[in-house]
Amino acid sequence: MKFFIDSADISEISKIVPTGLVDGITTNPSLIAKTGKKYNQVLKDICSLIDGPVSAEVTSLEMESMVEQGKKLADIAKNIVVKLPSTINGFSACKILNQQKIKVNVTLCFSTNQAIFAAKSGATYISPFVGRLDDIGENGMELIKDIKTIYNNYEIFTTEILVASIRTAQHVIQSAIYGADIVTVPPKVMYTLADHELTKKGLEMFLKDWKDSGNSI
Ligand code: E4P
Repeated sequence: MKFFIDSADISEISKIVPTGLVDGITTNPSLIAKTGKKYNQVLKDICSLIDGPVSAEVTSLEMESMVEQGKKLADIAKNIVVKLPSTINGFSACKILNQQKIKVNVTLCFSTNQAIFAAKSGATYISPFVGRLDDIGENGMELIKDIKTIYNNYEIFTTEILVASIRTAQHVIQSAIYGADIVTVPPKVMYTLADHELTKKGLEMFLKDWKDSGNSI
């Protein structure tokens, strides 16, 4: 399973990329707005930090303008993936960009039908938002399970499932159990994934025993 980082914060990204655990980055207009910097400059800076895919979202709603904006975003760097919304216009724009060999991440997916249209339109990634479904009392992970089943039913569907809106370590575990291709994880959650109380206690004990037996660093 690949791990993307869901952030537009350059200092967070430059700290986490050297761990060697990061395969790509996802951004959205809200994450970029938080940085207080210019949209395209932030994307350019992120692309210089990592070779893997960097998702950059369009802000147009009409098909033609999505395609135009998508092409401009793709010109920023070779690893840009254009993010389009799960709307009819988004799917049509996806098909056109796909024909032009520009990779697309279809975002704001909340249903299996949207995931089917994304795959049919040649999306490289589909981003179902599990946390936002949980927020409204639904079970976000059930959507991942269903999309995986549907995609497995059709060999022609090669779209990768990129689990988004992740809030907890449990979302990551369930994503792996259901066979999702990618999780995009906020930096704060990413760091918690390596934590275990017994690892911490075990380390403390090993270091104490090593020192007590007369060794020094
Ligand atoms: C993914 O591409 C989105 O940027 C992100 O996961 C949205 O997460 P949120 O629901 O926490 O805003």
